[in-house]
Amino acid sequence: MADEATNQELMDKLVSLCKRRGFVFPSSEIYGGFNGFWDYGPYGARMKRAIENLWWHEMVETRDNIEGLDSTIIANPTIWKASGHLDQFSDLMTDCKKCKARYRVDQMEDPTTCPACGSKEMTEPREFNLMMKTFVGPVFDDEHVAYLRAETCQPIFVDFNSVRVATRQKLPFGIAQIGKAFRNEINPRNFTFRSREFTQMEMEFFCDGEEGMKWFEYWKEQRLNYYRKLGFDDSCMRIYVHEKLAHYAKAAIDIEVKFPFGWGELEGVHHRGTWDLSRHSEFSGVDLQYLDHDNNRKLMPTVIETSVGLDRTMLALLSKAYDEDTAATKKEGKDEDVRVVLHLPPLVAPIQAAFLPQSKKLTENAYALYKSIDRYFRCEFDETGSIGKRYRRQDEIGTPFCVTFDFDSLNDNAVTVRDRDTMQQERVGITQLRDYIESRIGF
Ligand code: GAP
Repeated sequence: MADEATNQELMDKLVSLCKRRGFVFPSSEIYGGFNGFWDYGPYGARMKRAIENLWWHEMVETRDNIEGLDSTIIANPTIWKASGHLDQFSDLMTDCKKCKARYRVDQMEDPTTCPACGSKEMTEPREFNLMMKTFVGPVFDDEHVAYLRAETCQPIFVDFNSVRVATRQKLPFGIAQIGKAFRNEINPRNFTFRSREFTQMEMEFFCDGEEGMKWFEYWKEQRLNYYRKLGFDDSCMRIYVHEKLAHYAKAAIDIEVKFPFGWGELEGVHHRGTWDLSRHSEFSGVDLQYLDHDNNRKLMPTVIETSVGLDRTMLALLSKAYDEDTAATKKEGKDEDVRVVLHLPPLVAPIQAAFLPQSKKLTENAYALYKSIDRYFRCEFDETGSIGKRYRRQDEIGTPFCVTFDFDSLNDNAVTVRDRDTMQQERVGITQLRDYIESRIGF
């Protein structure tokens, strides 16, 4: 119970910091918000883009056999018939007639009693489809219904042949996509963890079925290593092995990490068999089999998927990074009680280096230095308030390096670089500054 309270407290602090410092705001806030929708402010947008670039670099740019795709959010609705989403992508729900609260039946201990008000007057469970519906064309009737995509992978399957032909890739190869997905989540919760609009980063790897499990293990390890490099070790990351599998799937795991509300799924690695390409072949009438010229045979490729939410990655990183450092007061001789600091990996920190002139008299020199470096890293210039206050401001948004230009800099052509985590200061020559920051960003 004490733990729960502390965790709720941590979540509240994180939500408050995200709003105060411009990471994440409730969408449409001046209209009272919109449940399940979030906007990313200036620092949030920078961090989100950094994560996106990191994933793209790791999954596409550094691999010869993965191609990128950027498909539409709305597409031919038959896709969702073929994928099974229109028939199966639903939750069983029940409403309390008294207090009007709505629940997923599978998440209730006793579906006949309202957990909020204790009433026994619950409606009969009903199916709610999670697909978001819209209309394409001027008439709002059944013929013009379309759906916002519920996952970014379906267009990958649909475009499989076009990508293969255009790139002359042979099996095994993958197609990756980053983009928005929409789900009519009945109960959006835990900040951005379960939203109605979110970004997915998915990669579908097509291979010969006989090698399916080998590639499944390969991608599981690749993805775990990626998170290890982002600082998730065994104390805050674990694997959940699915025992109940979809009939077509051979294996599935979730990579779970610790969020303030407990362990939660960050990424899924799935062996989807030949289900997706077979279904789209069947529904479109286009044969999506692969012709293996080397062995003179046709085969329906098996798919191994890695699927992660960008918003969840950011929430996981922020939760892990949040810290209140009480020892700091003494170290830097400041009078605040606690130093709020985000120990974010430098590669995804919204600002990687902040440039601080010691005095307003040094603004011009410090600004020129900042401008010579800000093309290489995400940088910020800050000249307001005492140096101590500026350090604290940067700590709170997770800036790993603060570069102070002082009066000595005019003579020794060097600056003081202060490390966010150790608070150690180091004198670095201005001509070495770019290499110094680059070498410390890592990955
Ligand atoms: N193509 C497979 C697929 O979409 P999923 O487990 O439904 O599988 C994959 O979703 C990932 O997308 C999840 O691990 C999570 O990171 C993210 N995700 C799913 N639903 C989400 C939601 N409502 N809000 C935020 N992220 C979500």
